[in-house]
Amino acid sequence: MSEDPIHPAAAGPEPHHPAALAGGAAPAAPSASPTAPATTVIGPAELVRFTNVTKSFGEGAEAKVAVQNVSFVVHDLPNAGELVAIVGPSGCGKSTVLRILAGLRPHFPPTSGEVHAFGQPIAGPAADRGMVDQKYSLMPHLTVQENIAFGLKLRGVSGKERRKRAHVWAKKVGLDGAEDKYPSELSGGMQQRVSIAATLILEPKILLMDEPFGALDPKIRMQMQELLIALWREQQSTVFIVTHSMEEAVYLGDRILRMAARPGRLVEELEVPRPDVPPDVMRKQPWFNELTQELLRRLETDAPALGPLPGLEQWRAGR
Ligand SMILES: Nc1ncnc2c1ncn2[C@@H]1O[C@H](COP(=O)(O)OP(=O)(O)OP(=O)(O)O)[C@@H](O)[C@H]1O
Ligand SMILES: [Mg+2]
Repeated sequence: MSEDPIHPAAAGPEPHHPAALAGGAAPAAPSASPTAPATTVIGPAELVRFTNVTKSFGEGAEAKVAVQNVSFVVHDLPNAGELVAIVGPSGCGKSTVLRILAGLRPHFPPTSGEVHAFGQPIAGPAADRGMVDQKYSLMPHLTVQENIAFGLKLRGVSGKERRKRAHVWAKKVGLDGAEDKYPSELSGGMQQRVSIAATLILEPKILLMDEPFGALDPKIRMQMQELLIALWREQQSTVFIVTHSMEEAVYLGDRILRMAARPGRLVEELEVPRPDVPPDVMRKQPWFNELTQELLRRLETDAPALGPLPGLEQWRAGR
């Protein structure tokens, strides 16, 4: 099976619907041709690899460097995915990193460097990398159920099967009963849940989320975090989540990629505790505040790599 042709997200019938961003028009396929030439030798168990990735917009003196020399590896853990939180000041290139990984123009392709997913060079959007965007764009003329099932429709799944599976997903995200409503009748939190369901129904191996809970009130936000953890456990996908909330990064992440601006770059990778308790419980742990405060301090001062976060020993000792 060959890779999707490189195409902008706008190539699909509805450019910003999660299904289009997830490469929903394509059948579930490996992200690149098995015969595609790989210039970097990589291990079989690597899920994502960025190697010296630089992205500039514009040419010559006008060129603006969005990210410079970003390198990291995320491994494919057997029967478990990782939750990778990306944090950094506004404009440091978080969305750029995520969109390169999604294969979405104009961020993709990078100006230089290599990006691999599943051991193959990324060539564009694909169904195995689903994206929930900063603005959860749904199709206004479709109902909740139709929005959730849209990617399945693009894949040629029958109407009966689509309704069945969309109903299962509507239930999972707490929207059963709202399936016949239109997006304009929903709150922001409900729209976000439709968007998440529309992406996850396609069972992407890698889930990319760009500030997905930014616009939600604290209570709904916490519910959405718990929902995400539950779905992540169930699907065993690897999740990349961009967030401006240090609490969210520490709570949700197994690992945090801390970026800095001017130029946008990756400063350090930090281990944080797995989200193995509900957010309100983790937030009450004595080490939680120390971890988040230190992370915030590093972010605000654009500190160089400083090694493991200090509250981590406390967390390990308490386990
Ligand atoms: N399509 C584009 N054309 C030109 N420059 C761009 C484009 N997209 C991003 N940039 C620039 O690249 C840099 C990184 O942008 P990016 O959106 O990745 O930052 P970010 O970390 O996601 O910021 P925020 O937290 O505000 O969402 C910024 O300076 C931005 O102006
Ligand atoms: Mg952004």
